[in-house]
Amino acid sequence: MSRPAVLVARAVFPEVVERLSQHFDVEANPDDTPWSREELLARLAGKSGLFATGSVQVDAALLDACPQLRVVANMAVGYNNLDIAAFNARGVLATNTPDVLTETTADFGFGLMLAAARRMSESERFLRAGQWKRWRYDTLTGSDVHGATLGILGMGRIGQAIARRGALGFGMKVIYHNRSRLPAEQEAPIGARWVDKATLLAEADHLVLVLPYSPESHHAIGGAELAAMKPTATLTNVARGGIVDDRALIEALRERRIAAAALDVFEGEPAFDPGFLDLPNVVLTPHIASATVATRRAMADLAADNLIAALTGGTPPTPVNPQVLAPR
Ligand code: DGY
Repeated sequence: MSRPAVLVARAVFPEVVERLSQHFDVEANPDDTPWSREELLARLAGKSGLFATGSVQVDAALLDACPQLRVVANMAVGYNNLDIAAFNARGVLATNTPDVLTETTADFGFGLMLAAARRMSESERFLRAGQWKRWRYDTLTGSDVHGATLGILGMGRIGQAIARRGALGFGMKVIYHNRSRLPAEQEAPIGARWVDKATLLAEADHLVLVLPYSPESHHAIGGAELAAMKPTATLTNVARGGIVDDRALIEALRERRIAAAALDVFEGEPAFDPGFLDLPNVVLTPHIASATVATRRAMADLAADNLIAALTGGTPPTPVNPQVLAPR
């Protein structure tokens, strides 16, 4: 019997491609060549599975052009690159990689927030530029993180992990806004308090965004929201580009309507608004919150687990739309 064919759209650990090759006829992209949409469609012809990352867009038109495609395994917890309604309508399975990146992403998100509050990138640029001539009482003074109010917008797994770091490691007061409130037994150990969005914006000293991107969360932080924040506050985004209106943020940072920001994600990335580059009070990183060797490997392994299970009669561990799975 012929083996299912799968496409690995982006470069990934060779060991993971090797593992997939034990089950499938694999077409991989070890050089990470950027494929046009037409090229992707051509390569998907006859493939039952796609190993994707967040930069691979899978929409209704692609699914219609590739009717043999049964599963897309996304190597990311976020799946806003996948049109899940279109998947559901066509009975195609989507999977993601939750849990394995929670703590790593929370480490980075908390670190970015610290970097913004304590002006770490700006300080390094100052030193490297030879501007450090003598000690001064007010050189590069920032704002405290310990004991401050940590605001979390989007209290899922990663939001909770950041909140734990703040509450238990830095004595921060935690407030959060989320569509659904956490059960009391999850709020209590970290003293987290659900507040409405207006209160979150008004009270947070350090606001961290960890909500999924969707049409509803598009520009959840724009000019009005930034104006509602404290002028001493920081804003950190480790969620998705498009949740923040980048133009509005650039204006707010330029006019010091908030003190600083730290961004790992951008609207239209890897392109980003060059206006950020002129600002001293923003920390910029290239979507690397989950980027440790161990975590990226765990994400790739989980995506492979999903692909293998879905195409060999097993139970995929982390389906996004399990309702399309036939009862087994
Ligand atoms: C995720 O897993 O969603 C991260 O943002 C990496 O893409």
